[in-house]
Amino acid sequence: MLAFSGKTALITGGAKRIGRAITVALAAAGANAVIHYRSSADEAEATAECVRALGPKAWTVPADLADPTDTATLFDRATDAAGPIDLLVNNAAIFEPSTLTDFRTDDLLRNMQVNALAPHQLARAFVAQRRDGAIVNFLDTRVVDYDRGHVAYHLSKRMLLSLTRMMALEFAPNVRVNAVAPGLILPPPGKDESYLERLATSNPLNRVGSLSQVTDTVLFLLGNEFVTGQVVFVDGGQHMNGRMYE
Ligand SMILES: NC(=O)c1ccc[n+]([C@@H]2O[C@H](COP(=O)([O-])OP(=O)(O)OC[C@H]3O[C@@H](n4cnc5c(N)ncnc54)[C@H](OP(=O)(O)O)[C@@H]3O)[C@@H](O)[C@H]2O)c1
Repeated sequence: MLAFSGKTALITGGAKRIGRAITVALAAAGANAVIHYRSSADEAEATAECVRALGPKAWTVPADLADPTDTATLFDRATDAAGPIDLLVNNAAIFEPSTLTDFRTDDLLRNMQVNALAPHQLARAFVAQRRDGAIVNFLDTRVVDYDRGHVAYHLSKRMLLSLTRMMALEFAPNVRVNAVAPGLILPPPGKDESYLERLATSNPLNRVGSLSQVTDTVLFLLGNEFVTGQVVFVDGGQHMNGRMYE
């Protein structure tokens, strides 16, 4: 009997990169997967095939999380296909450059919608099922520092940090809500591994993290029935470099 046998997970942005790794790790632990995607339809189907090859069932569901109306129907479309959802991983995000002097209100609202309000919308729909479950939200190690080059992103992840703690309290005792805050794991699209290697000395452990170090943490948080409201930094200790907002 695998740890998540008989459970069904909804993973946003589950088609590729970190989301794909989470989907496959959950499937290897027995969970069925609803793979949400926006533009990566082919990658989502390839990930679904990978899940099915491991044994569990898989479905793909599209939604633009920048559109609150589309987001509002995502959860129902997922449950129509797969039945009740036991595990929700809010992984999808946008990561766009912006500074305090140049970001526009539109940029901030889009970041807030995709990175914080959509996870909250999905979490509310999840809780409305009135069954036990667990949620993991994706933050960023930079939530405890000041990321001058990605201000709208930074603000949206700060909002998701607050929402994580609020939801952990409000949704207890039936639903646990935790977060993972990765550091250097994958280079942003368009950059290669050398981009991360150059930054490796920015954390006390002087290294780049791996996908399995992230997925191990996600599975731990989804599985441990006595843990809620936690943020686990998978970042080589980078969060200790800046404590402006602690
Ligand atoms: N990569 C890292 O090292 C790192 C470091 C710190 C934090 N994180 C966090 O970890 C999570 C995963 O990181 P990642 O680098 O794998 O993410 P990513 O590749 O930048 O994005 C993941 C997925 O988000 C989806 N997405 C973006 N905008 C969307 C929208 N408007 N509607 C619906 N889906 C949308 C995309 O789906 P489609 O491809 O289908 O469009 C994309 O594949 C993110 O929350 C990120 O902030 C990552």
